[in-house]
Amino acid sequence: MQGTSAKTPTAAGEAAAPERPLVKLDAGVMQREGAAAAPQVEPIIELERVSVRYDGKPAVRNVTFDVGSNLITALIGPSGCGKSTLLRCLNRMNDLIPGAVVEGKIRYHGQDIYDPEVDPVELRKLIGMVFQKPNPFPKSIYDNVAYGPRVTGMKGNLDEIVERALRRAALWDEVKDRLKDNAYSLSGGQQQRLCIARCLAVEPEVILMDEPCSALDPISTARIEDLMVELKERYSIVIVTHNMQQAARVSDMTAFLTVESDEHGVRAGELIEFGPTERIFTNPADPRTEAYVTGKMG
Ligand SMILES: Nc1ncnc2c1ncn2[C@@H]1O[C@H](COP(=O)(O)OP(=O)(O)OP(=O)(O)O)[C@@H](O)[C@H]1O
Ligand SMILES: [Mg+2]
Repeated sequence: MQGTSAKTPTAAGEAAAPERPLVKLDAGVMQREGAAAAPQVEPIIELERVSVRYDGKPAVRNVTFDVGSNLITALIGPSGCGKSTLLRCLNRMNDLIPGAVVEGKIRYHGQDIYDPEVDPVELRKLIGMVFQKPNPFPKSIYDNVAYGPRVTGMKGNLDEIVERALRRAALWDEVKDRLKDNAYSLSGGQQQRLCIARCLAVEPEVILMDEPCSALDPISTARIEDLMVELKERYSIVIVTHNMQQAARVSDMTAFLTVESDEHGVRAGELIEFGPTERIFTNPADPRTEAYVTGKMG
């Protein structure tokens, strides 16, 4: 796999993420500063006619779009349209679901991730996942973050690796004096940032997030949103969210999916529209997108 060499780890000691002001979009939707630009960038992951079935039953059909480097890409759409399914395809988490079959091509740095040469465990180090519900291990804060570097035999000073990941996840200042405490002693929002730190500790390139804020209060949500915008300087992020304001605030590109019937009446999630978030929210090309982003559907 390519990709690891592109990252230059910096010393622990980075500044905590500053609060980012909100800027106003045309449609009156607030967006976090720094999230608006959707420049022409190299794709880091390319999806080409991706379809997924569970036990033969189609869940997602013919989805094609690119995930851009150092951008936040949002997947939106009504429940059951296949957002989580698609997200899991990107680091081969669907391999772990019996009966799940993925068709089409997914390329990471141009390489087919379903090629037999690709080790899914290696792939998941480079393309990490943060889940909806914070899921720390029943271990200390330190051991949660150190877990990945330990099992993968990462080189370097472990204390520095842990500190760097916690700083990047904007959690260091809150936990530096209690690293030996159990992770369950943290608040929900802190636990989610710990899970992000655990993901960052193995130096991924891409972070997949499936509704990472849905279990959090508004203040913790705002912190994670700010953190995402900070993180995209180093990482590429794909986020699934049901929160339209969140998609508008943080993402650069948006993919909108809904469940559609094919010519045989077989229903599955399809990509309706993909483009810069600002355009999807202010000037969508498809009436179904407009109905969804304005809250008239879903
Ligand atoms: N493990 C599974 N086994 C069988 N079918 C599944 C499995 N996971 C998802 N599905 C089906 O695939 C389709 C897409 O589900 P998925 O969870 O990806 O949707 P989603 O867009 O993430 O929905 P939500 O917004 O509710 O999280 C649904 O019809 C769902 O029932
Ligand atoms: Mg889901």
